[in-house]
Amino acid sequence: MVRTVKLNDGTSMPALGWGNMGGKEKAHSAGAIALREGIHHIDSAQIYGTEEEVGSAIKDAGLDRKDVYVTTKNNDITVGDIRSSVQGSLDKLGFIPNLLLIHNPYIPTRAGLSLSQFWQHLEAMVEDGTLKGCSLGVSNFRPADIEEIVKVAKIKPVVNQIEYHPYVLAHLDPLMEAHAKHSIVTQAFASLAPIHRHPTGGPIKPILTDLARKLSSETGAEVDEAMVLILWTLSKGVVCITSSGDEGRIHKMASTEKVRDLDEEEIKAIDETGRKIHFRHWTEHMENDYPNPDLPSDL
Ligand SMILES: NC(=O)c1ccc[n+]([C@@H]2O[C@H](COP(=O)([O-])OP(=O)(O)OC[C@H]3O[C@@H](n4cnc5c(N)ncnc54)[C@H](OP(=O)(O)O)[C@@H]3O)[C@@H](O)[C@H]2O)c1
Repeated sequence: MVRTVKLNDGTSMPALGWGNMGGKEKAHSAGAIALREGIHHIDSAQIYGTEEEVGSAIKDAGLDRKDVYVTTKNNDITVGDIRSSVQGSLDKLGFIPNLLLIHNPYIPTRAGLSLSQFWQHLEAMVEDGTLKGCSLGVSNFRPADIEEIVKVAKIKPVVNQIEYHPYVLAHLDPLMEAHAKHSIVTQAFASLAPIHRHPTGGPIKPILTDLARKLSSETGAEVDEAMVLILWTLSKGVVCITSSGDEGRIHKMASTEKVRDLDEEEIKAIDETGRKIHFRHWTEHMENDYPNPDLPSDL
């Protein structure tokens, strides 16, 4: 079984995706492993320098382009030419992606445009066929950024790709309201931050360990804490973009498809404990004009 999530434009995407940030070699070889393992969803971006390797990984895995959901993100815009930036992605990918995201809300200013003007340029490229069949979305948008786009949008953003894990839940409440209001799917990156970025693992660590044990004995397979965090993300209806360059870890990520969703009680235990602290890895503008909750970064 492969979990999928329906988007507000009528399309759908696999709920688990593999991100190809981290260099060309990883994007090609580990990307092909992820695809062979059954993760048919690759998340790329201009800034990663790995758009060309999406196609080579698909070829290496023996798949067709149509078998794989592909996302890229706009970033390389310095002189105001959105069209040539998008064309650059299409040339490197060798095809039109399934989803194009504005990588950050500050990208449009590089093109000398407001967010809403930038969005309208992307819509025009969908309408004139340059981005035929491509969904449009955003990334690292705060509530005010979302509102600025939806007030002009003819095509609504389908997702907002953001840092999402239990330690940013308290901060994200207003953003989750905006997503619900506009039927925007939350797409997570840094889902594993509590495990490999937080200095101690924080207060959810023992809960993840217990659940990993419980799910291992239920399934007879080895479920680890990272898999529990991925399952927590997917069970909340959030798309999970994670990554690894390691074959064994990629296999485990893909194996989450064979494990049941967390139930309400299990989700609640992680949510309530996660909400007691605030820990964000990718701060950037996410802390500007969008105040952090008054919480410690560990207990
Ligand atoms: N939109 C944005 O601004 C944005 C920002 C950041 C990332 N992203 C996207 O999200 C993807 C994932 O980003 P992320 O690195 O922040 O995500 P993540 O899922 O939190 O972390 C992935 C990292 O965790 C490590 N890892 C995997 N399994 C593990 C385990 N069992 N125990 C400990 N560590 C483990 C991996 O290292 P190994 O390779 O050593 O296994 C990898 O470096 C990126 O590739 C990119 O596509 C988007």
